[in-house]
Amino acid sequence: MTPLEGPLVSRRSGPLGGRVRSPGDKSISHRALIFGALAEGESEAADLLEGDDVLRTAAAMRALGAEIERTGGLWRITGGAWRAPQRPLYFGNSGTGARLTMGAVAGAGVAAVFDGDASLRSRPMGRVLEPLRLMGVKAEGHKGRLPVSIHSGEKLSAVSCILSKPSAQVKSAILLAALGAEGETRIHEPVLCRDHTERMLAAFGVRLDFESDGAAGRYIAIKGGQRLRPASIAVPGDPSSAAFLVAAAVITPNADIVVENVLINPLRTGFYETLKEMGAALSFENKRIEGGEPVADIRARHSVLHGVETPAERAPSMIDEYPILAAVAAFASGETMMRGLEELRVKESDRVAAMEAGLAACRVDAASGPDWLRVRGSATPPHGGGRIATRHDHRIAMSFLIMGLASEAPIEIDDGSMIATSFPAFGAAIAELGGRIEKP
Ligand code: S3P
Repeated sequence: MTPLEGPLVSRRSGPLGGRVRSPGDKSISHRALIFGALAEGESEAADLLEGDDVLRTAAAMRALGAEIERTGGLWRITGGAWRAPQRPLYFGNSGTGARLTMGAVAGAGVAAVFDGDASLRSRPMGRVLEPLRLMGVKAEGHKGRLPVSIHSGEKLSAVSCILSKPSAQVKSAILLAALGAEGETRIHEPVLCRDHTERMLAAFGVRLDFESDGAAGRYIAIKGGQRLRPASIAVPGDPSSAAFLVAAAVITPNADIVVENVLINPLRTGFYETLKEMGAALSFENKRIEGGEPVADIRARHSVLHGVETPAERAPSMIDEYPILAAVAAFASGETMMRGLEELRVKESDRVAAMEAGLAACRVDAASGPDWLRVRGSATPPHGGGRIATRHDHRIAMSFLIMGLASEAPIEIDDGSMIATSFPAFGAAIAELGGRIEKP
């Protein structure tokens, strides 16, 4: 198998086939570690994603006082006694790790400094710090960016707030801080976004109350002072990582693959819904509930695709999948118009700009506006042949490597090392299915 560091090239590959497992869900893995660290006693997590982002969260939880060890495939987390870390907590590339831990640190009433790599230092943290300040948290950022310091010693009070952006990271930070606040915090979520925090807090014995807002959203209420009880979490496969494998099958002639054990929580499946609308031969097989989350094996076959328009309301349920959708759109006849993308510009990179530039380098017609991306594709494979600047973004790197498996000419990326943040076994999974990713 080709190591992922440095430049990589992907080439037209024969029919892809076989069964592979998606790596553990990144969102759920971060939460299992953080909630396990908050719960008094021993929690465990099976099938945790062992990607760089999640390992940084594990290190942060250790620095905050949790004992964490891996025995066999099982992670054991003994938590409940938080203390101020001696050094800044370093979250690398991970917005989820940093933002959720800010909420947890505030709720636990300890002081900590937060930092990350150049990409994370460029991402907005004010969206978390503002609601925390409303609760009484004393926090300083560097113009709303990392490094951020959270101070201890303040008494927090419950708030009523509205999630002005459909961000599960912000919602989760508020919920975790609310555990340490006096009174009942109420969050109005006008547009639903991933609900793993709500589901998993319930598994850890925390009571939350939900009420519809009469439209598409809901109110979430949580009382402060609740303690987490240890829990055992089975982490399902990540639909955002599985998306790359499914996309590879859909664009590659004669492909027929199964990705096993994928989370199909309806707040995460917008990409699959969109692929089906484009004409993709996809089926969710062997549907079941595991660890409180719906899971299935996804079968995907090569398909004749056509362009579609994706509505802005769908964005929260596929926010991490737009880069790979844009790559797939190059293989779909006609225009694919993706709307509601403003949040995509503040991810690990400006993903709208990165995809537009990369597609142009592969001679695909793409255009963008502040919150949209349009790709004109064709039923005949795109030329490819570009050398792609991945901007240290794992999803940009994987999207173009997948595109190269079915383009006319090979596609080269400048660096694949960031892929390890979310999908360390990406190269192995592609090789197992028969795809060709090599050193140039
Ligand atoms: C995540 C929420 C999303 C998503 C990220 C993981 C989470 O971010 O893009 O990869 O685990 O809560 P936002 O909350 O910023 O939308």
